[in-house]
Amino acid sequence: MTEVPTTSPDGRPRRSFLAALGAVAVGGLAAFAPVAAAVVSVFDPLRKRSADRDFVRVTRLSVLPADGRPRKFTITDDLVDGWTTYQDSPIGAVYLRREGDSVQALNVVCPHAGCFVNIAPSGEGFACPCHKSQFALDGSVSDPSSPAPRGLDSLNVEVRDDGGVYVRFQNFRTGQKDKTPLV
Ligand code: FES
Repeated sequence: MTEVPTTSPDGRPRRSFLAALGAVAVGGLAAFAPVAAAVVSVFDPLRKRSADRDFVRVTRLSVLPADGRPRKFTITDDLVDGWTTYQDSPIGAVYLRREGDSVQALNVVCPHAGCFVNIAPSGEGFACPCHKSQFALDGSVSDPSSPAPRGLDSLNVEVRDDGGVYVRFQNFRTGQKDKTPLV
């Protein structure tokens, strides 16, 4: 009968040799995990793009009526899918309202369930075609029987020296009272 050696090749007891080997493997994996996460975050273009979205130029201030009537604009940006970039792709839409030199931007998505709201026939607000939520021109819920849990989502907007109107476009979770950005 062959006898199983009880020591490792370097002479240490075999059990402690295997335990040391396991500890080295676990330690190596633990050290590698943050490095792997960093590599993914740097080289994964989808993650980088969603974190990087910045203000996009939508129109010129002079194009907007100065009396507060809203106008709808499609927002385009470069979309990255895997390693392919699609330039100037539609990513959503906004209503812009100008009063004097200040501009308000509202996302067109209804916070109830995500339909696009329309300008109400009266021009005095917005109406959702899906479940009849009604919003005032400033985006607040104007009809208490509306199922929308909050007003239309306002977006950060800047009027810059070049006369351009820039919007930081974002979508938000629907169906809840809080305005939670979608990443
Ligand atoms: S999606 Fe607008 S009221 Fe339901």
